[in-house]
Amino acid sequence: MLVPAMPNDSHSWANFISQIQSANNTAELDSIEHAVFGRKNGAMTLAMQALKNLKDEKRKSQAKELNTQKVTISTALEERRSELVRPSEDVLVTQDALDVTLNLPHTKSGHLHLVHEFIAQVEEVFGRMGFDVHYGPEIETEDLNFTQLNIPEDHPARDTQDTFWIKEKGKEKHVLRTHTSPVQIRYMRSHTPPFSAIFPGKVYRKDADATHSPMFHQFEGLMIGKDISVANLKAVLITGLRELIGRDVEFRFRTGFFPFTEPSLEMDMMWQGDLEDSREGKWLEMGGCGMVHPNVLRNCNIDPEQWQGFAFGFGIERPLMIKHQIPDLRAFFQGDLRFLEQF
Ligand code: PHE
Repeated sequence: MLVPAMPNDSHSWANFISQIQSANNTAELDSIEHAVFGRKNGAMTLAMQALKNLKDEKRKSQAKELNTQKVTISTALEERRSELVRPSEDVLVTQDALDVTLNLPHTKSGHLHLVHEFIAQVEEVFGRMGFDVHYGPEIETEDLNFTQLNIPEDHPARDTQDTFWIKEKGKEKHVLRTHTSPVQIRYMRSHTPPFSAIFPGKVYRKDADATHSPMFHQFEGLMIGKDISVANLKAVLITGLRELIGRDVEFRFRTGFFPFTEPSLEMDMMWQGDLEDSREGKWLEMGGCGMVHPNVLRNCNIDPEQWQGFAFGFGIERPLMIKHQIPDLRAFFQGDLRFLEQF
């Protein structure tokens, strides 16, 4: 390429510009740039160095001229470079077109987490038996989580060992709800009997081992009407749980104690499967249930002389452990894809 070694008039600078504009690739541009601005022998570099030999007036006007040329040439270089780098429209149309008829490789799609899938099934199965669905807050008042449920001041569940307390100065005491039972109170206060409803959600306790986690899920059930009895409670629970977990699951009811039900029962399920597990063939506690205590009804302005009913509260992870033979409850929350993708 023909490049004047040391242009001394604007004509020569114009020569660079035309070379820049007709450059065919960026390598050509690089060599022109070097010829003009190269640190040793670049035309502009030399012209700048030569300024010092000129007299005052001449030097000023020549410096001004050189600066103008410098800007013009740099701009021309930049423009041509971006033209050369930018693909033409023709190229874009042929090479960058999206073929919408193309068969894309099968991409994996996500799915509901086992726990949320189960909650959806609970809502569906109990929904078919006429149960409404209602959700309450996870941060609950001490009053609704304990007091309104007839849980006495000195009940161990209120201990800091068992419960996550949220204390703010001058404000009502709050807890991360330890069960879904406070939603019973919320529901009974905002609805007129007869009614039946399911309350699924997260609950929190200070527990952690293979069958306990500080956060887990429960679903609560409540049915209030005129002649509801323990027989209805058992029928509803067995029907619902068989539907959810499997026809052949074995259940057993034991007498139990909860301050908010009277009488109270506990329901266990047989741990089964072919895991070599010390729990094999043993009963696993699933949840509690019973007839809603008259004090609780009264706390919700429902007359226990007129209305009665049952409530139950079940863990969600435990029946899933039995159904899918999952030995450790913590697997639900570790986010390990090898576990999650199995379901
Ligand atoms: N809330 C109780 C628990 O978490 C379970 C329960 C709910 C018992 C409703 C009776 C009635 O242990």
